[in-house]
Amino acid sequence: MAEPVRVAILISGSGSNMVRLVESMTGDHPARPVLVLSNVPDAGGLARARALGVPTAVVDHRAYPDRAAFEAALHDRLASARADLICLAGFMRVLTAPFVARWQGRMLNIHPSLLPKYRGLDTHARALAAGDAEAGCSVHEVTPDLDAGPVLGQARVPVLPGDTPESLARRVLEQEHRLYPEVLRRVAAGDRRAVTIDAGQSGGG
Ligand code: GRF
Repeated sequence: MAEPVRVAILISGSGSNMVRLVESMTGDHPARPVLVLSNVPDAGGLARARALGVPTAVVDHRAYPDRAAFEAALHDRLASARADLICLAGFMRVLTAPFVARWQGRMLNIHPSLLPKYRGLDTHARALAAGDAEAGCSVHEVTPDLDAGPVLGQARVPVLPGDTPESLARRVLEQEHRLYPEVLRRVAAGDRRAVTIDAGQSGGG
């Protein structure tokens, strides 16, 4: 029986994606959560992680003089947890190229758009402003260029009449909660083929 892949999940907020990832890593899943880390001391997701029995940590970026010092502390905390794989789940700090290089190929992120469209922030407002018929989310490998790494999975949702950025965000978030666990299971099993989920479809693939 192979050792499970040790997964650290980085959050800054409520952690709804983190909860789905942790809940998915049971039974024959090839990975197990070893740490939930936040750069925000009072992030709602920390209490949810503790309630799920996952160790937590805070590395507050405001406590460090610069990004390099913050990232050195972040790396040390991840290394002491012996993390094999990092999942960014609503982690709102942009990581520098040197840090990304140390975890190249071992760090995933979920982004609320159909990459390569709408890298960065305010993805739903931008999709609505462009009059897009569909929106969605993507799980990608993290590379030094923001939101530009290889896409490992996408889920699509229709844009509906009367949609606001908030209503679209809610519909996309439901799909994030399906897509990220699906991609994590595949990546932890060594399968990096891209997967697409349609909102109407039950299950992954
Ligand atoms: C998600 O929409 C994710 O795509 C984005 O930040 C949000 C985090 O939500 N990067 P949560 O903290 O996982 O609920």
